[in-house]
Amino acid sequence: MSTFKALRVHQVEKTFQARLEPIQLSDLSAGEVVIRVAYSCLNYKDALAVTGKSRIMRSMPRVAGIDLSGVVESSADPHYRPGDKVLVTGCNLGELLDGGLAEFARVPAEAVVPLPAGLSLFEAMALGTAGFTAGMALRRMLENHQAPEHGPIAITGPTGGVGSVAITLFKRQGFTVSAITGKTTPAADEYLRMLGADEIVDRNSLDLGSKPMETARWGGAVDNLGGETLTYLTRTVKPWGNIGSVGLAQGHQLNTTVMPFILRGVSLLGIHSVEVPRPWRLQIWERLASDWKPQQLAKIVTRTVPLEEVPAMCAELIAGKALGRTVVRIGGEL
Ligand SMILES: NC(=O)c1ccc[n+]([C@@H]2O[C@H](COP(=O)([O-])OP(=O)(O)OC[C@H]3O[C@@H](n4cnc5c(N)ncnc54)[C@H](OP(=O)(O)O)[C@@H]3O)[C@@H](O)[C@H]2O)c1
Repeated sequence: MSTFKALRVHQVEKTFQARLEPIQLSDLSAGEVVIRVAYSCLNYKDALAVTGKSRIMRSMPRVAGIDLSGVVESSADPHYRPGDKVLVTGCNLGELLDGGLAEFARVPAEAVVPLPAGLSLFEAMALGTAGFTAGMALRRMLENHQAPEHGPIAITGPTGGVGSVAITLFKRQGFTVSAITGKTTPAADEYLRMLGADEIVDRNSLDLGSKPMETARWGGAVDNLGGETLTYLTRTVKPWGNIGSVGLAQGHQLNTTVMPFILRGVSLLGIHSVEVPRPWRLQIWERLASDWKPQQLAKIVTRTVPLEEVPAMCAELIAGKALGRTVVRIGGEL
């Protein structure tokens, strides 16, 4: 392995440009474990980094890709041996550290998760950070006593990666799920029903209201959008319901009052997938590989692309046009 292919983002004056280029191991950020990458995948954050829409990387050039699965090539940490199948999600890959959109990665041992029994390397990236984050939302909401009898779970951005997996996870726990989507095509409708959505709500037809609290409709929510959609959810979640705040695809602002929190006991739960206590990370991956594993996982992956097609796919993600998850095939099953 003298040189290998990597999708690196460079800063060129005030712009960020992604280039597929040959690099060497010595170009990568430090870490104990070298991994031959089998698959990576595309999350919203990858799309922001690769299109240059936002500054995701603290310094550049930096290999993009917040997730990877693959096989250990060499390890200075005794917990890992050549040939071990592993996955890495978050842990600052593709941000502070070089990431997974390359033929090889070098990562801190602390970031490495042994591939749990029940998942293939491909399935690990079918889930990726999106699936892990949906699992984190489920875990935090259940811990805070969310129960099916409280009413339907509203999931925003439901045709995206986090939303798709969240639908399957909450359905499997016996919840009724309402998908609040901006897509009104028959294909999106069919996709959401296939995942198990009980109700499909056109986001653009919602009356967002203006009062601190409006008629309560949702037992709880998983929000991928932020902005006025999250504001709406705070007004309409029922007493003691939880809102897992995951994303900002619509905006980072939240314009609300304390009323839902002090008069309805609503909880706003922060969902963060990058720096996670290791025991939680391992537990969530174990569940995703076993009793939480989506039966529809193969259908959630709507595209498997080579590294060369990543920039075009990232533009689609930013445009909000993509359905489901995109897996990037690098070395493939090894
Ligand atoms: N907290 C964390 O650790 C964490 C982890 C993963 C992701 N995230 C965040 O969660 C969000 C979803 O991530 P993802 O990977 O699932 O992204 P994704 O696959 O690109 O899906 C995002 C979905 O949001 C909707 N959407 C996209 N652009 C929009 C816009 N401008 N206005 C309104 N809706 C829009 C679309 O769904 P519909 O068309 O169905 O409405 C889209 O499919 C992102 O903001 C991401 O940064 C956070």
